[in-house]
Amino acid sequence: MPVFRHLLSLEGMGRPQIEAFFTRAAEFEAGGPHKAPLAGRLVANLFFEPSTRTRSSFEAAAKALGADVLNWTVAGSSASKGETLLDTVRNIAALGPFAIIIRHQASGAAAFAAANVPCSVINAGDGRHEHPSQGLLDTYTLWRRWKTFQNRRVLVVGDVLHSRVVRSNLHALKALGAQVALCGPRSLVHDGWAALGAQVDTDLDRSLEGVDAVMVLRVQRERMADAFFASEREYHQRWGLSAERAARLKPDAVVMHPGPVNRGVEIAPEVADGPRSLILEQVRNGVFVRMAILESVK
Ligand code: CP
Repeated sequence: MPVFRHLLSLEGMGRPQIEAFFTRAAEFEAGGPHKAPLAGRLVANLFFEPSTRTRSSFEAAAKALGADVLNWTVAGSSASKGETLLDTVRNIAALGPFAIIIRHQASGAAAFAAANVPCSVINAGDGRHEHPSQGLLDTYTLWRRWKTFQNRRVLVVGDVLHSRVVRSNLHALKALGAQVALCGPRSLVHDGWAALGAQVDTDLDRSLEGVDAVMVLRVQRERMADAFFASEREYHQRWGLSAERAARLKPDAVVMHPGPVNRGVEIAPEVADGPRSLILEQVRNGVFVRMAILESVK
């Protein structure tokens, strides 16, 4: 298993390193072998933004490895009195965790924390930049099924502009050899993504032809001060994964979503809960992948 000081991004991570995470996660999924390797050690969860999956998944993973977990959120903390990010991470680091897991609304916040604390830092989502543990758990979920990404086509559809999940997935999927396409309204997907190796299109029905997996992204309404599309109804009609569209996918094509889901906006409820959906499998796999991540940072 490779050793990392921090996990801030999947940019530049090669296929052997990514597959080493998968192999270790699969060992954890199979039930071992591990004997509380993090017993007596402390992990600090610092979440400046809300989270259901990532925070609880890292907590479950840390506890499965025998670690103690300190959970910090803005509410009830001195950040709500104006304490800075720098002072917050330095003070939490002074409590002695071996790793700080940080989510923050600013792109680059995790790297900033890493530069200012003596322990490891794991990026749990920084602004629009990256969400590396999500990228690893998403690709792990596909790897369990496919084993190889050669000749596999993955479509990411939705609010690419505000997404950190898309960048981590794009880095991982390209490193693993998959073909990646992006689709969404022109206001939310720009042609610049082609420089990272993705095909870009605004027509969802055309984009869905022949794909092996569809990753649906959440419309991040909380980050939209401007109008990026006419209405949620129009969005669903043009870029939503409806039951009719899902029915036209290849028989073995799968549907993914990092969550939380806006039901009836980017994805129809019957697709999110349907037989193609891997959404809850993604959540379950997240614990094993995050165990591998926690074990890898030193
Ligand atoms: N996928 C994801 O990051 O979900 P949470 O915001 O609930 O952590």
